Amino acid sequence: MKLILSSVLLSCAHLALGYPSRFVSADIHGAAYFITNDPINNYVVSADIRSDGSLAYRRAVRAGGSGAHGITTPLGPDALFSQGAIEVSPAGNLLAAVNAGSNTIALFSVDPARPSNIKMLGKPVSSEGQFPMSLAFNSDGTRLCTLNGGKVNGVSCFHIDNKLGLVSLQNTFRSLSLNQTTPATGPAGTASHVIFSEDGSQLIASIKGLPPTPGFLAIWDIANDGSLSANFTSIPPPSGGLLLFSMTPVIGKNALLVTDPIIGFDIVDLGDSSKSSAVNISGQGATCWSSFSKKTGNYYLTDLATSTITEVYIDDNLNGTVVKQYPQQSMSGTIDNDIATIGGNDFLYVLTPNTTSVQVLELKSPGNAAKVQSFDYGKYLNRSKIAFNPVNVQGMSVFVM
Ligand SMILES: *[C@@H]1O[C@H](CO)[C@@H](O)[C@H](O)[C@H]1NC(C)=O
Ligand SMILES: *[C@@H]1O[C@H](CO)[C@@H](O)[C@H](O)[C@H]1NC(C)=O
Ligand SMILES: *[C@@H]1O[C@H](CO)[C@@H](O)[C@H](O)[C@H]1NC(C)=O
Ligand SMILES: *[C@@H]1O[C@H](CO)[C@@H](O)[C@H](O)[C@H]1NC(C)=O
Ligand SMILES: *[C@@H]1O[C@H](CO)[C@@H](O)[C@H](O)[C@H]1NC(C)=O
Ligand SMILES: *[C@@H]1O[C@H](CO)[C@@H](O)[C@H](O)[C@H]1NC(C)=O
Repeated sequence: MKLILSSVLLSCAHLALGYPSRFVSADIHGAAYFITNDPINNYVVSADIRSDGSLAYRRAVRAGGSGAHGITTPLGPDALFSQGAIEVSPAGNLLAAVNAGSNTIALFSVDPARPSNIKMLGKPVSSEGQFPMSLAFNSDGTRLCTLNGGKVNGVSCFHIDNKLGLVSLQNTFRSLSLNQTTPATGPAGTASHVIFSEDGSQLIASIKGLPPTPGFLAIWDIANDGSLSANFTSIPPPSGGLLLFSMTPVIGKNALLVTDPIIGFDIVDLGDSSKSSAVNISGQGATCWSSFSKKTGNYYLTDLATSTITEVYIDDNLNGTVVKQYPQQSMSGTIDNDIATIGGNDFLYVLTPNTTSVQVLELKSPGNAAKVQSFDYGKYLNRSKIAFNPVNVQGMSVFVM
């Protein structure tokens, strides 16, 4: 009798150790974030990611500044004309967001045990230009660079101090000399996105053309101390391309997939421009945002004008083809997107401001993306009395535990 009881107790204790019930019931595997970019109070909105990829609203946290909407007619979604308005660093447990209306950048620490919990680190700092609209962390989360798209435009970078937050890095303010206004006038002729190159040795910014003048990629070399080369190398789009928008690296190829709302997308070979090409997405209107799925090996592009997700494959010779298209609710306005890998499954998160929601799709295999959820954040923000306007919301970034 005694023996049986103790063995039951032992197996229960074993079970409790193996499956801590607080984790099972919480079922949290990461977080997704975007900004309200509201002109009075900019908020970071965070949601938990559950094991099936679905989102659960968590909270909205003040970003310590104001948002802004670029000058455009009509005033629609995509206020910043950009990708990367909010970014995370998994290596540094960090999150950064732009305050485009106050020309500042806010840094937050991310709780790795509950990533939807974020806490501001230091105070928002000057972006060192106007209308900051895109951000990039280096791979180890020790530096952050921003792209300013207003009258004072260009890039600048910061060192990350665990106590102070963002600290300006010398010799990283580099002008693009765009003839722009604050807020920026666009979408044509505006700055789009900033990224580090795959090997971390260069900083790359994309700029949309002002038809008929094509846009360009601006590339700075990064020295060991983080400073940027005095001048940038300018790379034009391939023939047929014009409005260089988001950049997603083609892994191992020294090449980028660059969305281009004039045609669909461009593949830019950074070493040999003769291998670059512009690819037509038939019937597209404004293909501007992109991300890559390691699971399917394909890219997912969103089109604001047609509310459609386009899945793209790029082969070893940098030949790009459309695999499949996934139309979303008409006029929902598919903008920023990001992909999270949760327990070996990839999930795509697409901000659809016109329905105040985020579309969640599971990327099961190439050519096979299935809807998981349409997550309506609007009702939660209303309940919390947080003022927002769908035309302002921007950015999408995921953090995986
Ligand atoms: C800058 O843009 C403004 C407004 O489009 C234009 O009037 C002006 O000529 C431009 N300046 C230069 C130097 O291109
Ligand atoms: C940068 O460009 C300016 C103007 O074209 C030129 O005078 C200068 O030598 C360049 N600097 C470097 C380091 O290449
Ligand atoms: C893209 O394809 C569509 C449909 O085939 C065609 O009507 C359009 O002219 C093409 N656009 C470009 C820029 O080649
Ligand atoms: C690119 O791939 C498509 C589809 O597989 C094929 O039809 C086309 O010939 C390829 N183009 C080049 C330049 O290899
Ligand atoms: C968003 O909704 C507004 C108001 O209904 C509409 O005018 C606009 O065309 C929609 N935008 C997109 C991109 O569908
Ligand atoms: C949130 O509030 C706004 C303004 O009152 C309203 O237009 C909108 O429909 C509400 N959204 C949701 C999802 O309740």
